[in-house]
Amino acid sequence: MDVVKITGGHPLTGEIAVSGAKNACLPIFAATLLTDEPCVIENVPNLSDVRFMADILQHMGATVEKVERNTWNICAKEVKSKAPYDLVRKMRASICLLGPLVGRVKRAEVSLPGGCVIGPRPIDLHLKGLAKLGCVIETKGGYVQIDASAAKGANIFLGGRHGSTVTGTANMLMAAVLTPGITRIDSAACEPEIVDLCNMLVQMGAKIDGIGSHALTVEGVDKLHGTHYHVLPDRIEAGTYVLTAALMHSDLIIQGAQAEHLSATLDKLDEAGLKFEITHSDRIRVRGSESEIKPVDIITLPHPGYPTDLQAQMCILMAATQGLSIITERVYPNRFMHVPELQRMGADIAIEGPNAIIKGGRPLSGAPVMASDLRASAALIMAGLYATGETWVQRIYHLDRGYERFDDKLRTIGAQIERLPAEQMPNFDS
Ligand code: EPZ
Repeated sequence: MDVVKITGGHPLTGEIAVSGAKNACLPIFAATLLTDEPCVIENVPNLSDVRFMADILQHMGATVEKVERNTWNICAKEVKSKAPYDLVRKMRASICLLGPLVGRVKRAEVSLPGGCVIGPRPIDLHLKGLAKLGCVIETKGGYVQIDASAAKGANIFLGGRHGSTVTGTANMLMAAVLTPGITRIDSAACEPEIVDLCNMLVQMGAKIDGIGSHALTVEGVDKLHGTHYHVLPDRIEAGTYVLTAALMHSDLIIQGAQAEHLSATLDKLDEAGLKFEITHSDRIRVRGSESEIKPVDIITLPHPGYPTDLQAQMCILMAATQGLSIITERVYPNRFMHVPELQRMGADIAIEGPNAIIKGGRPLSGAPVMASDLRASAALIMAGLYATGETWVQRIYHLDRGYERFDDKLRTIGAQIERLPAEQMPNFDS
């Protein structure tokens, strides 16, 4: 296991490139099961979650080959219908195998995903949608078993108590594209990663209307063909760098950032006083050195609202900003595991239900801290860049699930950051 050691207070400057989007890649990989023809997927980030999904596809009968650093060839001539517990339990996103199995082989047996630190991860909406298509669903021994032999198009409302569901929408799309009839999905997720999945499915021959909206209409077809697809840039990685530039008062160019995928985040940062330009459709120039940041209140919501995956990163920015701010988490109300770690560094944050009440502006000092999930890891590293002294972030495997070479990329813009074996971490208790 590795740790990351950061020595804080060093100015950052220069250009940083964004990798392909993890949360588009995972359903896109699953979608390759929908055809018996080869698919080439480009701009795939080198992440443990991606490698894991590749292992699962291989187990399901696909041939999966990484042909270049960020390009994979996948061909599912035959597909098994069972995704095993020991693989699925390690990555919740593997639930998005349900849709392609229902679409391609008309049956599925997928282990129910466990929960995770950011909160319960139910799949009731996924199952509600599949049942509306006429699937016969049984949960037995920790598996969900689906018989889709009689499935046909239907009208589905997919909204839940926290709004739309991203992987639930992905599953319904991948089931409906090969299900006879017309399927209408209301309260669908419209995250850019869902748009990317729709674009790939259309390239494969699917018939989908309403792409990018909360109302999708799918006309089932008999067969889909293989395709060559380039995954969109990761807006959450891009947003993490924009927030880092604001935190560090740094001038950064973020290459590959598509501003229209970050409109809520950029709107809030504009309100907070960050100066930035959108110099190209895929480049944001942040002028943090000229910005006076003031506190803002945030409520996380499904897209196009402020993304929950940038909530932890905003917490550290507000902890470093003089004044009071309130961050309300409406998607995962318990997603504040990063707060106790930030408190160890001196942040004044109180949690009241789904709210983080932040009295910002107190000095932060480096400390040994524990990563709890993917986005918390990034936020703790940001805190280490800002704090005085050394910060040691443990359980860095969380970071490697969703950020490609995060420490390397930060080092290229001046961060004093290194990845070390855990045994090199000093004993802070002596
Ligand atoms: C996706 O998770 C992302 N993961 C998450 O990113 C992201 O935080 C989340 O969407 C919200 O944007 C991937 O795309 C692989 P949801 P997903 O279904 O699809 C509730 C990261 O850090 N819900 O949109 O699992 C659910 O409990 C990860 O990259 C139900 O109640 O999230 C949550 O409160 C973390 N019933 C809300 O909806 C359901 O059947 C949103 O969940 C499904 C979801």
